[in-house]
Amino acid sequence: MNEKTDIKYLFEPRGVAVIGASENPEKIGYRIVENIVNSGYPGGIYPINPKGGEVLGHRIYRDLSEVEGEVDLAVIAIPAKFVLDAVKECGENGVKHLVIITSGFSEVGKRAEERALVETARKYGMRILGPNIFGIYSAKASLDATFGPGGILPGHVAIITQSGALGIAMIGKTAAESLGLSALVSVGNKSDIDESDLLEYLADDENTTVILLYIEGVKGGERLLSILRRITRAKHVIVIKSGRSKRGAAAAASHTGSLAGADEVFDAVMRQVGVLRAESVQEAFDWARFLADSPLPKRKDAVIITNGGGIGVLATDACEKYGVSLYDDQEALKKAFSSVMPEFGSTKNPVDLTGQATAEDYEKAMDLALKNDQIGSAISLYCETALFDTEAFSQLLSETYARYRKEKPIVFSLFGGERIERAITKLRKSGIPVFPDVYDAVSCLGALYRSWEYARSPEETIEEVKIDYPAIEGALATARAAGRTFLLAHEAEQVAAALGIPTPQAIVAPDLDAAVAAAERIGYPVVMKVVSKDIIHKSDAGGVALDLENQDEVIDAYQAIMRSCRAYNPKAVIQGVEVAEMVRPGVETIIGARQDPSFGPVVMFGLGGIYVEVMKDVSFRAAPLGKRTAHSMIGEIRSYPLLLGVRGEKRKDIDAIADVAIRLGALVHRMRDITDIEINPLVVYDHGEGVKAVDVRILLKGSPGGE
Ligand code: COA
Repeated sequence: MNEKTDIKYLFEPRGVAVIGASENPEKIGYRIVENIVNSGYPGGIYPINPKGGEVLGHRIYRDLSEVEGEVDLAVIAIPAKFVLDAVKECGENGVKHLVIITSGFSEVGKRAEERALVETARKYGMRILGPNIFGIYSAKASLDATFGPGGILPGHVAIITQSGALGIAMIGKTAAESLGLSALVSVGNKSDIDESDLLEYLADDENTTVILLYIEGVKGGERLLSILRRITRAKHVIVIKSGRSKRGAAAAASHTGSLAGADEVFDAVMRQVGVLRAESVQEAFDWARFLADSPLPKRKDAVIITNGGGIGVLATDACEKYGVSLYDDQEALKKAFSSVMPEFGSTKNPVDLTGQATAEDYEKAMDLALKNDQIGSAISLYCETALFDTEAFSQLLSETYARYRKEKPIVFSLFGGERIERAITKLRKSGIPVFPDVYDAVSCLGALYRSWEYARSPEETIEEVKIDYPAIEGALATARAAGRTFLLAHEAEQVAAALGIPTPQAIVAPDLDAAVAAAERIGYPVVMKVVSKDIIHKSDAGGVALDLENQDEVIDAYQAIMRSCRAYNPKAVIQGVEVAEMVRPGVETIIGARQDPSFGPVVMFGLGGIYVEVMKDVSFRAAPLGKRTAHSMIGEIRSYPLLLGVRGEKRKDIDAIADVAIRLGALVHRMRDITDIEINPLVVYDHGEGVKAVDVRILLKGSPGGE
């Protein structure tokens, strides 16, 4: 990075040119100048238009070359066909960053035109934000270089958005909800600058404590993950992604491929790097605002204070849903709250002050909760009652919040009629986290706890695993030399052996005598499978025989396999059969790793059979994996209790599964030529007895359905 490409100058330019600045208030080029002027930008403002003139008290330069001051940033808002020339002009005049507002490039299929912009900019060492964007706002520079409605409040939340329309709407919404922004950046077509570049700057921007990303598609996901992994240790990051239901293109290539839908992988890897994924724009906003203002908790365990039993129970449910643990020391609760409790109230958590509670009772109860070192946070709920003066309560709520807002996380939920609704609007406007729905309140607290827990979890070290890579390269080279983009079973077994993953003992036998000898050597029972590159679906071809108990059965099976395979495909070249140890039963799981189109190497795990086929009960992580991540991936599937042992069964060898996951992750991370490796089934035995990879499939780059 040199001074020119330093992303700092995008956020903190010393001078801004607006190419396409117009005297006509209807034009986007006018709106941008207006916003720059109104936002109080202290640097040089240089409107450019060949007609010259004046706009909002600023001289319009006919040409960039007339400008004497430093121009770090040029905002381009002229028709698409003129943009390339403008880019050149900027390059010749020492501009560092271009904000290209203009639409009509790759989003309408004009990829070559867009590429030309980037290539030209590169030649001059410039970087491009956009095209097809509404601009950039930076609180640090007091600069609103957007054509949005203006009125952005400075604050601590940075928003990066791929959707322009949503971004512009967000400006209005942030103003309406008095949410202060440190930055707002529209990334549009991401021809050059993408989220990762912007995050590099925001990571070190002390003004930004919360980052909200609206993403539609991810390019260069590995870099994004590595930056996010670092940022989430110090800041809260929220993401909203559209397109939840889209599936990966490689649907049929492997189970891992068909289950690794873009959204499932996105969800998993974001969680892995400590990013909070919101369900909706409203939820993201609520979180952003709460996280920007709330102190970090010092401990877990919330207390719920309520005057209504029902709403208290709802809050308890919400706590379970959003992973907020409740303070549960009954004795301590009783001691703490009995002084404010009527006889028929409850000092259990939820602390139920009952419908008789007065504002003073609330105040005392809140004071007790917020001063108590054992309690991590407070959820204060209020149902409108006839006995209660809503005005007085609002006042009290504001005061309590003001007293403790820097000490402990607090959320409020008020439920009632018109007076309550008015109170909510007023309180929210003044920045107090009050919600009409108790679930929304708890959802914010849950987001805070998740982000906090990630940030304080120790960083994971990824240990080097011993893998015989030259042996794997050898197996791949054999397949490549034979013109294949998949590995034959025995080659895949060689890979498994080189990975250190146990497979059933197996011997390839070219003829009947060799098959018998192999069975004798391995020991009965054995299984036998045809070996032929022309027969991929061996069972369909009648090429598999199981549970062969003795020599006679081996001979019969050999002949039967040859007969059916020849009938199935008379042209198939049959190299012989593979005789293998019959695997003893255990829990069947599926484990795989692949190159995800967005995030690169990922690992998948699930239980076999209906769990994977019907319930799609699988989990993902970006590779490489450390032990903790491997275990969390395994623990995340819904059927995990089956591995812990149900109905008196023993716990299964989860450590051995984790070891396989780590090895597969290391492999696809290092060898990008392998697009898919899948073990199905990986049979798992009781704790300490290990696993066995029964069937290993490997696809290489260039295979149909692979990446
Ligand atoms: N340098 C400087 N100014 C130039 C110029 C150049 N090379 N070429 C033209 N101009 C001037 C024009 O004369 C005009 O000024 P005027 O009002 O004084 O006549 C001004 O720049 C704008 O050009 P105009 O032809 O009037 O275009 P426009 O304002 O109607 O549209 C865009 C320009 C960029 C707004 C339009 O092409 C566009 O892309 N709109 C979509 C923007 C969008 O939605 N972006 C995504 C948001 S998420």
